[in-house]
Amino acid sequence: PVDLSTGSLTADRTRVQTPDPSTPPAVLEAVRQLVNTDDSDGAVGITIPGVVISGVVKTASNIDKAWVGLDARYMFSESLARPVTILNDADAAGVAEARFGAGKDVRGVVLLLTFGTGIGSALLVDGVLVPNTELGHLEFRGDIAEGYAAARLVKRESASIEWWAKRVDELLSYIELLLSPNRIIIGGGISKRFEEFVGFLHTDAELVPAGLRNNAGIVGAAMAAEEDAS
Ligand code: BGC
Repeated sequence: PVDLSTGSLTADRTRVQTPDPSTPPAVLEAVRQLVNTDDSDGAVGITIPGVVISGVVKTASNIDKAWVGLDARYMFSESLARPVTILNDADAAGVAEARFGAGKDVRGVVLLLTFGTGIGSALLVDGVLVPNTELGHLEFRGDIAEGYAAARLVKRESASIEWWAKRVDELLSYIELLLSPNRIIIGGGISKRFEEFVGFLHTDAELVPAGLRNNAGIVGAAMAAEEDAS
């Protein structure tokens, strides 16, 4: 549950492991467990790491392929018996950062990049989201951007943060060439370590860590759910 006047969580965050394989029925069961811990019947916001258009999932890079083409809004709302809104995970973080966090009151082009298992992107112009940008899938250095510079590489290859940050720097300079953002917000779990890697990044845009840290997606999902319900 989220207080949408402040953007803060009103209960401790509950975490359940993403099922493996992350098929729709398995994830639905995990979501049901989560939602059942809340005794209200309010609207539910759910984020998916893929393109989502009108509740239908269009891509699934890091989750089970059975999601592609699925009307996830229908599936979840039928099963949970509550109004459900579905949106991309990075887009959710982006709208939350724009209202309450590192993008608050910033005019012009703001780009949030989330670094985790993949790279997610949210592009906002004067606070208005351009939904479903997928900058993690830009072709880059013989790979795609998230293959080249996702934060999972730091763990998987026990690589140094400096090695990873230099790759991110190359990617950011390419993205700047394409989009000329005024501000770039770095999100995802690794943004906790922003001070350790910011020195390796050389952007023209102002570079800031996400203000809501890992709660941004939750807050953005709640914002979207409320907007749809009203
Ligand atoms: C997906 C995006 C998602 C990002 C972060 C990418 O692989 O294509 O939709 O936002 O990962 O989870």
